[in-house]
Amino acid sequence: MKCILIDCDPGHDDMMAIMLACSSPELKLLGVTTVGGNQTGEKTYLNALKTLTLIGERDIPVARGADKPLFRELTVAPEIHGVSGLDGADLPEPGFEGVVRHAVDFLIQTIMESGTPLTLVPTGPLTNVALAMLKDPRITTKLERIVLMGGAVFDSNITPAAEFNIYVDPEAAKVVFGSGVPVTMVGLDVTNKALFGFDDIERLARSNGKVSRVVAPLLKFFAQANKTIFGFEGAPLHDALAVAHLIKPEVIKTRRLNVEIETDGELTRGRTVADVYGVTGKPANTDVALEVDNDLFKELLVQAIKILDSR
Ligand code: BDR
Ligand code: CA
Repeated sequence: MKCILIDCDPGHDDMMAIMLACSSPELKLLGVTTVGGNQTGEKTYLNALKTLTLIGERDIPVARGADKPLFRELTVAPEIHGVSGLDGADLPEPGFEGVVRHAVDFLIQTIMESGTPLTLVPTGPLTNVALAMLKDPRITTKLERIVLMGGAVFDSNITPAAEFNIYVDPEAAKVVFGSGVPVTMVGLDVTNKALFGFDDIERLARSNGKVSRVVAPLLKFFAQANKTIFGFEGAPLHDALAVAHLIKPEVIKTRRLNVEIETDGELTRGRTVADVYGVTGKPANTDVALEVDNDLFKELLVQAIKILDSR
């Protein structure tokens, strides 16, 4: 069994990432840390607690982290995730309390005290992860790998050049991509194709289980927002694809490339600059996802919700 930590900003697709991890016998979720991103730090923390309450996972530690990026003001995404960060349905109020420690200290302690090297799955801006690396660089030698949702080689969403998570805190992303920890980048090149379609959502709504009856309208809201803004025929469950890769590695295909982060560009802030043709001669530092098996991904999601419905 693989032990993981999820650092996230829920967010509809972050919520699905947490659910997928909790339902999987292949994974043990040791903690959830939250960061300001899709919504304010206060809201994303609340949403993590509500998500775990909905699926009856009250023993997983939840720690609240950075409210804003290292050097910049926070950009949020209400047009995609709503004012709450999880618009579309009412989730139950939190039925348990998070841990008192700051997410950065929780990450450091959990990583350093773990008997086996952990996998970190960041699905929001990389502020907490960078702060943890800066505060205690020893964690970079203790982590097995980082599988993150963020960036893109050819695609973009928040600007014509950048993906949201990297755009929000590019300086943090620079720390993480340069940390020496093996990084797998599950970016928009694959996650924009990881669509849970309107028909899939309808099917989920009809199953009417205790989790699916809340998740279906949430995904409908998210899919509708993505249709309005990007013309997608469903919900791109970006963050859940990073977790799916840990359950079934073959759900994506990756290539090893050199990736660096643009922090200064006037038009290109937050671009993950990937050297596809090796023109820089710089060593590859990232496994970059370039293909996705969306049928397999959807199968994993449907199975996960079925398991959570039956608990
Ligand atoms: C990423 O940005 C957020 O809106 C999503 O939760 C995902 O992590 C996609 O660009
Ligand atoms: Ca996210």
